[in-house]
Amino acid sequence: MRLRDKVAIVTGAGSGIGAAAAVAMAAESARVLVADVNEAGAKTTVQRIEGAGGQAIALTADVTRAADNQALVERATAAWGRLDVFFANAGVPQWKTDVEEVDETTFDTIFDVNVKGVYLGAKYALPVMKRARRGVFLITASTAAIRPRAGGQIYAASKGAVVTLAKALALEVASRPSPPTRRCCRPSWASRRWTPRGWRGTRRRCRSAGSTSRRTSRTPRSSSPRTRPP
Ligand SMILES: NC(=O)c1ccc[n+]([C@@H]2O[C@H](COP(=O)([O-])OP(=O)(O)OC[C@H]3O[C@@H](n4cnc5c(N)ncnc54)[C@H](O)[C@@H]3O)[C@@H](O)[C@H]2O)c1
Repeated sequence: MRLRDKVAIVTGAGSGIGAAAAVAMAAESARVLVADVNEAGAKTTVQRIEGAGGQAIALTADVTRAADNQALVERATAAWGRLDVFFANAGVPQWKTDVEEVDETTFDTIFDVNVKGVYLGAKYALPVMKRARRGVFLITASTAAIRPRAGGQIYAASKGAVVTLAKALALEVASRPSPPTRRCCRPSWASRRWTPRGWRGTRRRCRSAGSTSRRTSRTPRSSSPRTRPP
């Protein structure tokens, strides 16, 4: 019940971390707008939420499009009258590739979804939160932002960009009274072992250290198998 009366938008909520986050938020009584470019995935997540007695709406949205981000915010506020959480989670991976083999389309796609998609979410969600003087803007980054892996250079750069974006957004709202909060999660190998309490086998990865999380040397690594590229 920790999110009773709260309204959340989760992008990339048709599968993986986004779906798990949407289900977890709804289990805490939030009303959740489940957004994904994959319509079937978004509907499946909504069915899971409604099946457990929660409230959710599925909306097909491509986070690289300004109009779609605007529509997400407008739909959530029209349906439920407020916006408390925007989780900019949608992202695409990069399969291990030497830089000379990376084509421009791959670069553009990764940056469009992983960076531009987050900027556009902030562009439309933050004005609502600034007016209301409350809200949380969450971003899924990656440990690749601080510990890149060979062959994942473009993905790592995109996640580094959103870590910096999160810091800049935090500064933008820091001077405001009761400002919206920015947090940037850096999951490592999340696989499918996310639970409502966090990544299984790990301590908390997200810390409310002002703008971004920090993974300390004492934080154990996930025991999840490596099922995804960096
Ligand atoms: N899984 C991991 O180990 C891991 C590690 C570090 C960071 N991450 C990050 O976590 C986030 C979620 O990843 P995941 O592992 O759950 O992957 P996933 O592929 O299961 O989920 C990503 C979702 O985003 C959606 N999506 C892709 N492009 C989109 C677009 N343009 N507009 C809207 N939705 C779009 C996909 O349809 C998919 O449902 C990503 O940002 C990813 O980079 C994942």
